[in-house]
This record gives sequence, structure tokens and C-alpha cells, in this order.
Amino acid sequence: MNIAGIEGLHYLGNYVREIPVSLNRMMENAYDWEHLPFVHPTSFASIELIEEGEWGWRCRTTLPPAAGGGEQVVELLVDKARHYWATTVLEGTGEGVQIHTQANDKGAADARLIDVDVRFYLPQAPETAEQSAMILGYLQAQYATLYDEDAALMSARQEALDGRKTSKPALSERADLGAVSSLDKTEPHLVTLPNGVFAVRYHAGSWIAHAAVCPHMLGPLSDGQIDAEGRVICPWHGYAFALSDGAERKSRCGALPDAPSLREENGHLFIGD
Ligand code: FES
Ligand SMILES: [Fe+2]
Repeated sequence: MNIAGIEGLHYLGNYVREIPVSLNRMMENAYDWEHLPFVHPTSFASIELIEEGEWGWRCRTTLPPAAGGGEQVVELLVDKARHYWATTVLEGTGEGVQIHTQANDKGAADARLIDVDVRFYLPQAPETAEQSAMILGYLQAQYATLYDEDAALMSARQEALDGRKTSKPALSERADLGAVSSLDKTEPHLVTLPNGVFAVRYHAGSWIAHAAVCPHMLGPLSDGQIDAEGRVICPWHGYAFALSDGAERKSRCGALPDAPSLREENGHLFIGD
């Protein structure tokens, strides 16, 4: 993909940082429009896909109220071989702004350390140096937050991928979670069984169990909110899985594996048969 030049635009400044992830994780994240409102709620309120492909994506987004609540059509063009991508606001708030990002690995090609150079271009130069400094400061702070959030997602996903390759499944079909009276009701309890990792949590007055790992991209379902319809919402892309049968609300990915049953015996909570 050949990304159109930035001639005629005003280069405002950049934001540079290191991230302890691979280029693969970074490029996957650039293509991943769906995570934006879920992982970056201070920058995006909602997103709707217009078109996507190897070339990148085009989406309609709304900004959160604190960022003005406006609408945008945003396009992301990717030059995969060069680990380069450019975001352009095609319509709406900030129309004409382009943000170009170059990712580089540091050291070996499979090293899990990269840096990104994020360069901000405006359709016109701001009128004063103060305005320039203010806009640049705003964008640098916004991108610091965006990359903090993305670094957390990418690292957790890498960990989940590594775990899938290396961890041995538990041998026991049944696990004792401990005395019910002392189980923390405010936290999910993770249990590894031969058929997967499950979250045991206290919800609406009883203990429930569901898959801890999202079948979409291995997101931490154990941390997902449970909505009023009894669906657990993945914090990465908002896929919603019914606790009853594991099905995703819009069939966007496979269903959750069946959770083993929970049972109380002699004051202890057990999962599995
Ligand atoms: S990882 Fe994408 S919705 Fe869970
Ligand atoms: Fe992101």
C-alpha cells in the first residue's frame, strides 16, 4: 500500500515511545478498529465500520462528551511491509488532520521491544506559537494515554498467546475453591481445568462460572461486566456472551465453552464433576 504524501500539510510535532511488544502485536492493533471505544473510552465513544481490508479501514466514530461529542469519519491506511500507518480524519471534528505512525523493532526481528514515532499533521498551521504548543501538548497527552491502554492490551494478548502454547492443562476435573464464607465476592476466581480456564464470580446473589478467556482474541472475559440480560461483555471489543449458552450476541465469533457446574459441599465451593 502506498500511503499518500503529506505535502501541503503542517507538521506540528510528534510523540515517541518504546513499547515492550512485538511488531506483530503492534500491526494487529493498528488494524483492530473494534477495540477503540472499549479500550480507549476517553478518545472514542462509539465506532461503526464502513469498510476494511488489507489496506486498512474506514469507520464512523463518535467522540466522548468530554472531547466535544462530535462525529468523525476516520480512515486508516496501512503499509504493512514498512510497519507504517496513517490515520486521516476525512469528515467531522478535526477534518483534515493526519497522524502518521512508524513502528520499528529494536534489535532482533522477533524481539518484543519496539518504538513508535507518531507524527501529527494539521491541514493548516495554527495562528500562533502558543496555539501550536497547546494543540501539540493535547495530542501528546492523548497519545500517551492511547499507548498506555494499547500496551496493556497487547502485552496481555501476548501473554495469553504464550500461555496457550506452553501451559499444561490441569489434570483434575474438579477444583475446590475454598470455604464459601471466606470467598471474596468482589473478585473473579480463576480456575484451570482440563477443558479450559474458568472464572468463578459472584453475580446477582449467586456464584456463577464462565470461560475466563474470550474466544475472539483471548481477551480477559473474567474482568468483563455482566449486563442486565445476563451476558458477559469482553473488555477488549465488547463482544457479549450469554451466560446461559455461551453464544455471542451477534455471532461475531464462536461461543464460550460450557462452564462446569458449581456445587457447594460441606461449606466449600467446588467447580467440575
Ligand atoms: S477479545 Fe475481542 S471481544 Fe474479547
Ligand atoms: Fe488502540
